[in-house]
Amino acid sequence: MDKMVIRGGRRLEGEVLVNGAKNAALPLMTSSILTRGWNNFRGIPQLGDIATMKLLLGHLGLEIEGGEDLRIRADNLTCSEAPYNLVKTMRASILVLGPLLARLGRARVSLPGGCAIGARPIDLHLRGLEALGARINLNHGYIEAEAKKLRGSKIYFDTTTVTGTENILMAACLAEGTTVLENAACEPEVVELARVLNKMGARIEGAGTDVITVEGVDGLEGVEHRIMPDRIEAGTFMIAAAITGGEIKINNCRVEHLDALISKLIEAGVTAVPEDKGIRVTAGDELKGVDVKTLPYPGFPTDMQAQIMTLMCLAEGQSVITESIFENRFIHVSELKRMGADIQIQGNSAIIRGGGKLSGAPVMATDLRASASLVLAGLAAEGLTEVSRIYHLDRGYERIEEKLSSLGADIRRVKG
Ligand code: EPZ
Repeated sequence: MDKMVIRGGRRLEGEVLVNGAKNAALPLMTSSILTRGWNNFRGIPQLGDIATMKLLLGHLGLEIEGGEDLRIRADNLTCSEAPYNLVKTMRASILVLGPLLARLGRARVSLPGGCAIGARPIDLHLRGLEALGARINLNHGYIEAEAKKLRGSKIYFDTTTVTGTENILMAACLAEGTTVLENAACEPEVVELARVLNKMGARIEGAGTDVITVEGVDGLEGVEHRIMPDRIEAGTFMIAAAITGGEIKINNCRVEHLDALISKLIEAGVTAVPEDKGIRVTAGDELKGVDVKTLPYPGFPTDMQAQIMTLMCLAEGQSVITESIFENRFIHVSELKRMGADIQIQGNSAIIRGGGKLSGAPVMATDLRASASLVLAGLAAEGLTEVSRIYHLDRGYERIEEKLSSLGADIRRVKG
């Protein structure tokens, strides 16, 4: 298994280009199941999860060509089963369930297990599809769903769920009549999916608010679309600038998607100024501890929690970080403590006493964003840090070591 070797202490300076958003690309790829004719998605990030999704869609019989510019056609769907060996490596595989049910009237999808950050149930996905008229059974670790024709309904999500909203939104596009999703997720990736579905011929209103209305149509057509930039990759590089005392211009990012993070960084003493289709982030003379609570969009994103915690380890004073989305998303804490961080966990809050230094150490990645936080810690730590199991990192960041090296970091990937 590969590892990342980082010698800390370098100020990062320069410009970096953000790739297309993983969490926009994945639902857009599965939305192809609903369409006839070619879809042409440009700016697809070359990541582990995208490769897994291509394998899964290929298994279902979709025609797939290309890499960064990806062409997908679902004219000859041959299979409605998403097998365990593919689903177990990527939970977002569940996003084929709604489209398969809507297009073919049946689907057999392996139940995604939990993952490091939590149990990650999908009860709200299943309840939503049943409300649309699907009959759903769970057998031998598989979801077995069928529906002659989905019928529009009113669906209330007990908890705001991003992929739950996306799954039901896609299924509702081909349902008969009107569907109303209440307490829907407002993430930019949900808005992007609704925009593309409408380009395909769907009739969706209200995306970006917590009430989305869908008028079902008979069919959708393939479209051309450029994937939106990855706000979490952009946020990760913003933290890299702040934690190394440097200055980075992050190109190709939508500043309006980063308001919660930007306001926290400014509160902490970092300068973040929008600049020609991107943002310039400059570390301040001193870093102040700030409190953070993760919330559904537009609140502070849970996918940036581990990264800002690393920054707070070096800030003056105390900060409290509360994780309100996932029940076990503090796995990076024990690894940061091995690097000298002073962090105490109390329930779903972490209390960070900053002002100290981080010292390089061998650490282990456990999930995608935790691995990013350990790389950030290595950039700021004294001495050498080795981050193992970086296959987690490769699921969500494309060539991160090349991008960080171009900004002046002393980082290299060691093939293991
Ligand atoms: C999406 O996961 C993202 N993944 C996650 O990004 C992100 O952390 C998460 O949204 C929150 O923003 C993709 O978009 C592919 P949820 P998702 O359903 O949809 C509970 C990354 O790093 N819940 O919004 O799986 C759930 O347990 C990944 O790129 C139910 O109880 O998250 C959690 O507590 C990690 N029942 C809360 O809702 C359900 O049926 C939010 O989860 C569904 C969810």
